[in-house]
Amino acid sequence: MRFWQIIFAGCFRRLNSLASIMDTNQIRNFSIIAHIDHGKSTLADRMLEITKTVEARNMQNQYLDMMDLERERGITIKMQPVRMLYEPSRESAYILNLIDTPGHVDFSYEVSRSLAAVEGVVLLVDGTKGIQAQTLAHLYQAQKLNLVIIPAINKIDLPNSRPEEIEPELRKILGDVEILKISAKEGTNVDYLLEKIVEKIPPPKPGLGDYGRALIFDSTYDDYKGVMAFVRVFDGSFKTGDKIKFIAQKKDAEVMEVGYFKPQLVSQKELNEGEIGYIATGLKDPTLVRVGDTIISNFESQISNLKELALPGYQEPRPVVFASIFPKEGADFNVLREALNKLKLSDAALSFEPDSQEVLGRGYRCGFLGSLHMEIVLERLKREYNLASLIATTPSVVYELVLRSGENKTIFSAADVPTSDRYTEIREPWVALNILTPTRYLGGVLELVSSRRGIHQDTEYLSAERVQIKYEIPLAEIIVDFHDKLKSVSSGFASLSYEFLELRKGDLARLDILVAGELVTALSRLVPREQSFEEGQRLVSKLKNLLSRELFKVSLQAAIGGKIIAREDISALKKDVAGYLYGGDITRKMKLREKQKRGKKRMKASGRVNIPSSVFFELLKR
Ligand code: GTP
Repeated sequence: MRFWQIIFAGCFRRLNSLASIMDTNQIRNFSIIAHIDHGKSTLADRMLEITKTVEARNMQNQYLDMMDLERERGITIKMQPVRMLYEPSRESAYILNLIDTPGHVDFSYEVSRSLAAVEGVVLLVDGTKGIQAQTLAHLYQAQKLNLVIIPAINKIDLPNSRPEEIEPELRKILGDVEILKISAKEGTNVDYLLEKIVEKIPPPKPGLGDYGRALIFDSTYDDYKGVMAFVRVFDGSFKTGDKIKFIAQKKDAEVMEVGYFKPQLVSQKELNEGEIGYIATGLKDPTLVRVGDTIISNFESQISNLKELALPGYQEPRPVVFASIFPKEGADFNVLREALNKLKLSDAALSFEPDSQEVLGRGYRCGFLGSLHMEIVLERLKREYNLASLIATTPSVVYELVLRSGENKTIFSAADVPTSDRYTEIREPWVALNILTPTRYLGGVLELVSSRRGIHQDTEYLSAERVQIKYEIPLAEIIVDFHDKLKSVSSGFASLSYEFLELRKGDLARLDILVAGELVTALSRLVPREQSFEEGQRLVSKLKNLLSRELFKVSLQAAIGGKIIAREDISALKKDVAGYLYGGDITRKMKLREKQKRGKKRMKASGRVNIPSSVFFELLKR
């Protein structure tokens, strides 16, 4: 054979085998899980290189972070599947389906969904940081699903890496297993890790065969192909033209196209059992497809046991922070609705329902998994759906009121809390908080948690250097700036995870803020009664620094139950409207000043103080 024939044959074999390895024994499905920044996407880069999935000239760092927003912020927001052809020798070839996952706690729903699509995980631990809170949170999830776990200590190229210290800590949790030591950046031992993946992670179990059955773990929208469901096929196969059914949504459709991720979408003839890929559904209504639903194909027209065919789906994520979003122009309401429905396809943790407020008009009350999640959703609406001028209300946790009538009422915003004679109890959400910190920062961490109404539960030493502390704490105390504060008291080394516990009775008061004499309901909040005076004073002083001066004096007041408890004034901006007139013409100057006075009066009457949305976020920070 000539040289070009050999090259051509090689390329053909690669393409052919990527698309058509039929034997499930040659498939391995796995995820990389870790705490934020421990190197998942960098490890995925090396795997893409070794398996030549991405051409060298197209390679860039954190290749699987495909959104601009992810690259700018240096964090993974979305899980990203990719198929690789791994040929450890001339005789053997495997399809490796990798799902790269985010590490931040606000995106952990992405992780749990990926785990249901795979048989094993690589658990990556940064050799300079050690085990952190999300390392454990994700590990426990993988263990619950009985996935094979391959632990690896990363960043061994760095001089401050301490694999010998971290290894015993990992053994304490995982037992006596092999712990790999790698450098994702330099590629050290990544080859060996790939060998271990093939050796230790089992191939997908053979399916039942009669009909096709696939779990939707993610989705997206394509203007031409409609909703694209990202699936793991557990039984049978799917191909273009197949009639399919969504079990939970009870919806029928026809397959427009199937394919796999490279990570770009590549169409192929069939998607077979054990494979991870996409199904283009042609459906134009994004609300018809839900992650966690099961798609079936090749079914008989009358199925009696449809529900029994459903694969175990996902637990609905529990939003922790709520805020309402309004378009600046009322007419954009429909645009916002469509944008949210489409965004939900690729952000399954987002929840929303219609809301309307007197001043802001019609909008949506959205539930988020944390304040970073909220920030990212607002940014994506702006960038991907051209909704630049949205107004968002202050993020808040959800409360429950026990009304005098005995009814329970869910409260999404302090502005909806009636006067205290109308209810007997306010309940607020509490969480179980888990913090991992090097022992040398324990003092600062304990002080911080105690200042936020935390109740200590347990302390466990993973080693002489690393300690795990468990607290119960009101969710409202940790949703905004707690994470940043924790990082600053521990020089970046402590980390946290939390889980919802229950709603508990709280001694809370509704604190209102009045700007220029007018109640700004979006600034109202529920605060612990014993801290309400302090908090009222803090808020008005902070607001004074955050708001720009106006042409008239603006009073800032904090009130509880109609009683003013704190006040600050922003003095008027002095602008000499007649300053440009030189010398004599005194009547002209007086006329101008009179006009200014009338203008100020009018502005004052309309109370128009412009409060930029960034102020709402800033005010929440302590
Ligand atoms: P999230 O997905 O946002 O949680 O982050 P990640 O786990 O994907 O981490 P990422 O791959 O983005 O790496 C975080 C930082 O660590 C980047 O600056 C990488 O260059 C760096 N990094 C990753 N692996 C190594 C390594 O082996 N050695 C060194 N020196 N740096 C590494």
